[in-house]
Amino acid sequence: MHVQAVSDWRDRAKIAGFVARLAVKEHVRPDLHVGPMVAELFLTDNCNLKCTSCACWRTVTRDELTTSEWEDVLSQLAPAGVVKANFTGGEPLLRKDAAHLMAYAHSHGVRRLHLNTNAILLNDDRRTAVLEAGVRSFNISVDGPTAQTHEAVRGVARSFDRTMAHLQELLALRRRYRLRVRLNFTVMRTTVATLPDMMRFAQQTGVPLYLNLATDHTFLFRDEQVSAEAQVDRSAIDAALDQVEALLRADAHGLPSYTELNYIRRHFGELRQENLPCAESQLKLMIHSRGEIGGCWGHDGHDNIRTTSVKDVIASPAYRREHEKFFRKECVGCGSNYSLNLSLRPRTHLENTLWRAGRRSLAAEPQP
Ligand SMILES: C[S@@+](CC[C@H](N)C(=O)[O-])C[C@H]1O[C@@H](n2cnc3c(N)ncnc32)[C@H](O)[C@@H]1O
Ligand code: SF4
Ligand code: SF4
Repeated sequence: MHVQAVSDWRDRAKIAGFVARLAVKEHVRPDLHVGPMVAELFLTDNCNLKCTSCACWRTVTRDELTTSEWEDVLSQLAPAGVVKANFTGGEPLLRKDAAHLMAYAHSHGVRRLHLNTNAILLNDDRRTAVLEAGVRSFNISVDGPTAQTHEAVRGVARSFDRTMAHLQELLALRRRYRLRVRLNFTVMRTTVATLPDMMRFAQQTGVPLYLNLATDHTFLFRDEQVSAEAQVDRSAIDAALDQVEALLRADAHGLPSYTELNYIRRHFGELRQENLPCAESQLKLMIHSRGEIGGCWGHDGHDNIRTTSVKDVIASPAYRREHEKFFRKECVGCGSNYSLNLSLRPRTHLENTLWRAGRRSLAAEPQP
């Protein structure tokens, strides 16, 4: 059997084991430790755009991990049980060694590589380098279907044309490399009204749409302007979802599901959603640009990779105690990867089936 096929099969088995352990943790043994499988790597906190929803660009972060320090971290991931690396930031492609680090992770046993990027720097050379490094999954951030709407959030003139041009060039290679490409759109005060147009845009572009829901609780997003963006009126959400209902009924291909869209209403009303366990906090190992490790999206880690190994962090009683609480949503709440959390609930699949049968509607949700 081909080496890649064997590692795919092994990864799938590990993912199935992860899901099974989460079920045991929820229903039988709350203290069961479920080790992280995906490393979220913040290569840099610095950025080349100026998004209203984000704090990265507002200060310059110095003393970030060097190339050799990142290599050291990356070589520890697979032995610690990590099967996938998400490269993010800040803008990860700002680092000249980004593609080298991706290739390094791949050659040290982490075969699944994902990149979150604004695609401004994803030119021919960079695209070739990250593909050669083994990256096969991309989230490209687009915060509006037109230059005007996108740049109102992203804060830099002509950024829309640049991102779209690089996205199209990537899409041209989608088949050849079997790429998974998604558009990332963040729902916030400035963008909520454009959600229906953004869905049409995603379908016309032929790229599945993922919705981030704005929050100011995540370490990258703690800022006054972000707090304003994270306040979205119920009436604005209702107006958008009324239009979305018809759109989804006409053609749901590549669009978020009924339950994901319905979650938007709940997110902006009650960020924590304590009845929905946080699988995301168990799945991800957060490693920050200056070496901080641990925590989750809403809670900072307490160790540093410069002084403690990946294995020791995950094995520490403090990490395990804290992650036990995160799973139960004893946390500040943030809504990160709500779609994963939803997908693990049988009720989600029932609700989507009822929606398909016409027994649920986004437009007809009762007011609280
Ligand atoms: C922080 S960026 C890092 C990667 C890259 N710079 C980019 O923009 O894609 C990751 C994602 O977070 C989203 N985001 C920005 N501000 C946010 C906020 N306040 N709440 C939730 N997601 C947000 C971005 O739109 C982007 O899709
Ligand atoms: S969302 Fe991404 S592109 Fe925008 S400022 Fe933050 S890190 Fe930069
Ligand atoms: S929902 Fe809570 S536990 Fe999950 S990532 Fe956000 S802050 Fe952490």
